Formats: sequence, C-alpha cells, structure tokens
Amino acid sequence: MSTRRVEVRTQRPYELRLGRGIAGESLAAARRRSRFAVLTDERVWALHGERFGAGDAPVVIVPAGESSKSFARLETVLDALAEARLDRKSCLVAFGGGVVGDLGGLAAALYMRGIDVLQCPTTLLAQVDSSVGGKTAVNLAAGKNLAGAFHQPSGVWIDVDLLATLDDADYASGLGEVIKSAVLAGEEDFARLEANAEALLARDPDLLLDVIEACVRQKASVVESDEHEAGPRRALNLGHTLGHAIERAAGFGRVPHGVAVAVGMQQACLRSAQEGVLQDRDLPRRLMSLCRRLKLPTGLEELRESTGAALTEGELADAMRLDKKGAVWILPVRLGEVRAVEPRRPS
Ligand SMILES: NC(=O)c1ccc[n+]([C@@H]2O[C@H](COP(=O)([O-])OP(=O)(O)OC[C@H]3O[C@@H](n4cnc5c(N)ncnc54)[C@H](O)[C@@H]3O)[C@@H](O)[C@H]2O)c1
Ligand SMILES: [Zn+2]
Repeated sequence: MSTRRVEVRTQRPYELRLGRGIAGESLAAARRRSRFAVLTDERVWALHGERFGAGDAPVVIVPAGESSKSFARLETVLDALAEARLDRKSCLVAFGGGVVGDLGGLAAALYMRGIDVLQCPTTLLAQVDSSVGGKTAVNLAAGKNLAGAFHQPSGVWIDVDLLATLDDADYASGLGEVIKSAVLAGEEDFARLEANAEALLARDPDLLLDVIEACVRQKASVVESDEHEAGPRRALNLGHTLGHAIERAAGFGRVPHGVAVAVGMQQACLRSAQEGVLQDRDLPRRLMSLCRRLKLPTGLEELRESTGAALTEGELADAMRLDKKGAVWILPVRLGEVRAVEPRRPS
C-alpha cells in the first residue's frame, strides 16, 4: 500500500507521511545524515524497539509517562546526545508519544543551538496532534509546558500499525482530539465519525489512516497560517480551557489530556448555548452521543464518577485562572465554526 503525504508549508517546509508499517522509514531518512540518535520511552521501546530497527545507533530511553517532561530529564537527554557525539548536522529521531515528542523536540531545539528532529509518533494523540506544528516543551513546578520552544520537525512518519498496542485509556485520549478536529472541520468529518464509531473503536487501520490524515491536514493548514499561535491557531484550543483546568485540578496525569478535552468540548457547547452563541441546537446531543459511543465521558459528572476526582466548580475556576493562555473560551457556533470569547472579568 502506498504512503500518503501531506506537506506543511511553514518557514522551513516539511512533509508528513502516513501509512502502515512505515516507522522504520524515519530511520532511513536519519541515516542519510552524518549521525543520529533515537529518543524513546521504556514502554514503546519494549514493545516496538526491535522491529523499529535502529541497529547500532545510540538510543536514549526515558521512563514512560509525563514525569519525563522535566528539566532534569532534558539535561540527561542533552548529555546523552553529547556523549553520542552528535554534531550540528546530526538529527534526533523522537520515537514515542507526546511526551517523547515534546521532550525530544526541545532537546533538538537546544542541542548545539538546534539540530533537526524527525518525529515518529506512536500514540493516537501524538499522530493527530502533538507531532505536527513544532511546539515543544517540558513542565515546571508551576505548571505544564512552561519552558519550551517552537521547533518544527524536519519530517513526520505516522505509522498507524503502532496503535494496535496502545492501552484503551491512551487510545480514548487520542479520540478526544480526533473529535475536536472533526467539530472544527465541519459536518462531513463529524458525520464520518458518527457513521464509523464502532470501526474506529476497533482501530480499523484504513479508517484510521483517513481520520488521521484529515486531522493532520487541518492542523497543517492552521499551523501554516499561524506558525507561532498569534491568532487562528487558537481555534485548536476548543475544549482546552476547561480541559486544562480539569487536568490541573485532578492532578496532572490522572485524567488523560484528550479525555479532559472531550469533556471540555461538551462543556463549551453548553456554555455556547447559554451565551446565545450556538446556532446548531442539535450539536450538544450529537457530541455527547459520539463521546458515549467512543467510550469517552459524556460530561463532568461522569468524569467525576469514573475518576473519583472531586473537580468542584471552585477548583476548576481556580485552575482556569492559572491557565497561561488566559482562559479564552472557544465556543462552537455550529460544526465547522467557532468563536473565541474572552473570559468575563469579575465585577
Ligand atoms: N506539542 C504539542 O503540540 C502537543 C499537543 C498535544 C499534547 N502534547 C503533549 O503530549 C503529551 C501527551 O501525549 P501522549 O498522550 O502521547 O502521552 P505519552 O507520550 O505519555 O504516551 C502515553 C502512554 O502510552 C505509551 N505508548 C506510547 N506509544 C505506545 C504504543 N504504540 N503502544 C503502547 N503504548 C504506547 C507511553 O509509553 C505512555 O505510557 C502531554 O505531555 C501533552 O502536553 C503536546
Ligand atoms: Zn490537546
């Protein structure tokens, strides 16, 4: 089967490739450079390392999970790149989920003032979202993603076969971002998810290719028009104002990002109706029903029950005040149209 290609025309253009069994092609591209190293996490490496085929290239393995997005870990990665004697023409292949992608992207942005990074995302979330667009970061004690840089990858290899081994919870998290992308795209994309919810849950590879391609085409075009998130790229934050607050209030790592976004999106829909912004009255019901079929929570109450986190109104409001993006709400108007609304100032 042929590989699909999507071009991202940023200042320095690059290509996304999508297909089955194509992860190893990222290494072929890396081998054409002077030297390269692979960054991955323990879980991904245990499951897919052998088939990835890095040969005797240096492989830097970090613990799986959000705790690896730290300044301390960043330093050990940079030390490992120096030890592997990477030079300015070398590159780093980030083989893992959003954690490895963000950490690897930032390490590549910093090492020798910037070397190339090739992304080979292994979670659904990373394939539809975090591997495209060049945002990289680690977390600080004060909050998530507070130290980072824009550093576009030199290429992205999206291999849907890797998704077969993902935990259901991690897969569901990616589906939250898939639904978000469809709400932003419009009726056709949303209806495709409704028509194929069961096949999507079953991780049908051909359907996944179509769905992921739609997500990355959308992200690519938004990123092209707004590389450094000055305006239009903000629409991608649909569901994220409350979503980030949920993640923060529950304690980072307890509610997966995309699950929090799914709940945030449903809440944005309700708020949009309350504020008279929502035009499509059927959207809240359709969104909730799709979330239910894709095994995502259908609202805050269900999330509280399933996680045991209190997530009180007060906690969420406090968490939103700490949001570095100023808690701008992206409210759906109808499928394919959103409006950004500034937070109300307390009177
Ligand atoms: N840079 C961006 O634009 C952007 C966008 C969205 C999210 N993010 C970041 O992405 C991170 C979340 O990404 P994530 O959800 O991929 O988390 P993750 O990288 O922690 O992966 C989740 C879990 O899945 C495991 N895993 C990865 N691939 C697997 C596979 N193929 N089979 C089995 N297990 C696998 C990992 O080891 C980990 O335990 C957050 O830190 C978030 O801030 C960044
Ligand atoms: Zn997100």
